[in-house]
Amino acid sequence: MVANTIKFLLNNELVNIENLDPNTTVLQYLREEQFKSGTKEGCASGDCGACTVVLAELDSEKPSQLTYKSINACITFVGNLHGKQLITVEDLKDGAKLHHAQQTIVDNHGSQCGFCTPGFVMSSFALHKQNNKPNRAEVLEALAGNLCRCTGYRSIIEAAMTSSEGNQDDSFAKHYQQTLVTLTELDKLPTPTLNGNGNTYIAPQNIDELATELVREPKSTLVAGGTDLALSVTQNLAVVKKLVYVGNVAELTTIEETESEIVIGSALPYSDFIDTLHHYYPDLGDMIERIGAKQVRNTGTLGGNIGNASPIGDMPPALIALGATMTLHLNGKERTILVEEFFLDYKKTVLQTSEFIKSITIPKPLAGQTLKLYKISKRLDDDISAVLAAFFIEQTPTENGQKITNVRLAFGGMAGIPKRGLAAEAVLLGDGQGNSLTKELVAQAKEALATDFQPMTDVRASSKYRLTVAQNLIEKCYLELQSAQTREVIETRVVNY
Ligand SMILES: Cc1cc2nc3c(=O)[nH]c(=O)nc-3n(C[C@H](O)[C@H](O)[C@H](O)COP(=O)(O)OP(=O)(O)OC[C@H]3O[C@@H](n4cnc5c(N)ncnc54)[C@H](O)[C@@H]3O)c2cc1C
Ligand code: FES
Ligand code: FES
Repeated sequence: MVANTIKFLLNNELVNIENLDPNTTVLQYLREEQFKSGTKEGCASGDCGACTVVLAELDSEKPSQLTYKSINACITFVGNLHGKQLITVEDLKDGAKLHHAQQTIVDNHGSQCGFCTPGFVMSSFALHKQNNKPNRAEVLEALAGNLCRCTGYRSIIEAAMTSSEGNQDDSFAKHYQQTLVTLTELDKLPTPTLNGNGNTYIAPQNIDELATELVREPKSTLVAGGTDLALSVTQNLAVVKKLVYVGNVAELTTIEETESEIVIGSALPYSDFIDTLHHYYPDLGDMIERIGAKQVRNTGTLGGNIGNASPIGDMPPALIALGATMTLHLNGKERTILVEEFFLDYKKTVLQTSEFIKSITIPKPLAGQTLKLYKISKRLDDDISAVLAAFFIEQTPTENGQKITNVRLAFGGMAGIPKRGLAAEAVLLGDGQGNSLTKELVAQAKEALATDFQPMTDVRASSKYRLTVAQNLIEKCYLELQSAQTREVIETRVVNY
């Protein structure tokens, strides 16, 4: 059963949308349909945070609670609002009283021209809804996706660091129970669709419905967070004829752990699995924290990152190095392949018509295994990689030290697809008996890498820079492993002493 309408709460009011082009972004909807111009357009590409709004949703683990997430309205399609509460800067005030997130900006002189201010306020609002006493690192993480060209960041950061304890009694807290009831009711509605301008949107609720829809309409375009796809609409003025939203499909939005594996649904946003991956692979958690900014990680997904098949997507090299697999689904039939096997050529993958990515399976680490990740970009936060290097090394202790028993060196930004450096790996692995990781061996592996890759020159880096940095990262990894082992030996000696 389907319903030709999108329903959500706009602040505390229930809204129905019908007959609207599903290519419309939340930002366009707010400014052009609702005449709410508090949410600004700076870049229309997810980079500046001027359009930040907040989505409240039923918590997937505790449905009697709401979670509040900042998102970029400029790269979110309006259909994705179904079943959620959209909170905008206009409605933060409670009567004449400014919200804590606004008042602290006033108190700390955090605004000059004011163009960026609504975005900062909404990022701060989302943070304080989840955490009323954030520390500096948490504030910096929450605000990293917001840019200000005039005030400077000190006063804005201080504003967001002001504890909101005792200041939580806003209009959303007063309507909390009612919001829970409404969102729970919306959750039970038939599959939402939206038609307008000859274009269609549908949000299937389970995997069978999704698979059937893709067989019925094989020319559909899947959308998850939209943080890649929406740019084709806002930047390249593309029109997507048939959008199929995967973010409501129950089987695609879970994370499960077995004794030896972590299985992540393709449509689960980064924010919902970053902690688990950080626990098992600290380097991977740290790297995911550098994918876009909080707003992007709150909606962007693994399925989108892999499905986009960009040579500079950050997750594929890490997943390839880890030997991760992915499950693909086509009309009720599933197949599992290595992530490495997914990419054929620039933007070409093994996905067949009507097939989609269901989940990604990552092995848990075993003794002797190490994953090292290096993201090289011009800025630390919110920047795309020039080179992403992911090194998986397994070493086994011998009488004289350690020997390498398995190695995968995967790179992004070095070829038309994310790819392994097989020649460099062969040098490290040797004749199969296992080499010791030495300075000389690393020098040979660096040389061999030049036969693996002839990277391109583009705005992010020259070919020469890319190759040199990739080679040097192998050496950096070696030095870090050496110093960790030295530290271990010293610590053991200190303990024994
Ligand atoms: C400001 C900004 C910064 C960014 N920074 C980074 C960064 O640092 N590193 C990085 O890697 N990326 C970055 N990105 C790109 C993007 O956020 C990620 O690639 C993200 O993971 C995409 O996920 P999504 O759910 O938004 O994909 P969407 O845009 O929804 O989809 C992307 C593509 O994948 C397809 N797709 C989606 N789901 C599936 C599925 N289940 N099966 C098959 N195909 C599917 C879609 O049809 C589409 O072609 C950035 C984007 C922005 C806007
Ligand atoms: S307008 Fe810049 S992030 Fe949306
Ligand atoms: S106050 Fe002017 S852009 Fe931030």
